[in-house]
Amino acid sequence: MKVGFIGCGNMATAMISGMLKNGLYEKEEIIVSNLTEAGSKRSQEKLGVVTTLNNREVVEKAKVIFLAVKPQFYEEVINEVKDLFTLEHLVVSICPGKTLAWLEEKCGQPLRIVRMMPNTPAMVGAGMTGVTINERVTDEDAAMVKAITDSFGKTEFIPERLMDAVNCASGASPAYVFMFIEAMADAVVAQGMPRKQAYAFCSQAVLGAAKMVQETGRHPGDLKDMVCSPAGTTIEGVRMLEKYGMRSAVYEALTACAEKGKKL
Ligand SMILES: NC(=O)c1ccc[n+]([C@@H]2O[C@H](COP(=O)([O-])OP(=O)(O)OC[C@H]3O[C@@H](n4cnc5c(N)ncnc54)[C@H](OP(=O)(O)O)[C@@H]3O)[C@@H](O)[C@H]2O)c1
Repeated sequence: MKVGFIGCGNMATAMISGMLKNGLYEKEEIIVSNLTEAGSKRSQEKLGVVTTLNNREVVEKAKVIFLAVKPQFYEEVINEVKDLFTLEHLVVSICPGKTLAWLEEKCGQPLRIVRMMPNTPAMVGAGMTGVTINERVTDEDAAMVKAITDSFGKTEFIPERLMDAVNCASGASPAYVFMFIEAMADAVVAQGMPRKQAYAFCSQAVLGAAKMVQETGRHPGDLKDMVCSPAGTTIEGVRMLEKYGMRSAVYEALTACAEKGKKL
């Protein structure tokens, strides 16, 4: 057994799906724990990995341990398993707000600890993960962590002070983009297009626009201007987005997300 996940909900499932799809690990090399039988059954059906209801078994069997429960259960879960942790383990947190110092203190002994913020697009190999490490993490560990996160998307090593920024930039923002796509599709359906086709058009437009930002390196405002022909239709929509406060709504949403993360 190589990798263990304590908690296997939405985020862990997305990460493991990416890891398996990429062929980084075999199903038999990953063990996950859930709180309930229903959770175990879900992990078996969706992922086919080894499952248990015993968190301690995960730490006994694997050396890389992802803590992937909800933030409010981190302390409880760490207390349950911390006496089994050794310097051979690499402990990985995926929780916003829980600092390396907090994790070290709760584990109660010097450990190799990684803090990361992945996102659910990991499920389709298009994740974005920010990673920060403590001083005991070796170059070899960091390379292994990067191999894991690269298996389901892109990876950036960042200073810990930027973790709350990563939380809103990529951890949470897929939710906002899904809301944007849903709202676009509603309007398109109102124009007469069937819903499924509306999602196909709107999601591809979002994907294409994101690719243009990444691949051209041009300023997003510049790319927006390219779409807005003088006296055309697009600029009318831009006027409405400005009127209804789109920029400020997005700014406030990401700020609220980052601020909440700091308090967890
Ligand atoms: N969702 C995201 O997009 C995202 C992005 C970045 C980071 N994160 C972070 O990832 C972590 C997990 O979030 P999530 O969205 O995956 O949550 P989730 O879908 O609610 O999953 C939580 C998982 O934890 C299990 N669990 C709860 N208590 C447990 C315990 N005492 N022992 C073992 N397992 C336990 C649950 O099992 P049952 O199913 O059996 O109840 C479930 O599998 C959070 O810290 C979150 O902040 C999430």
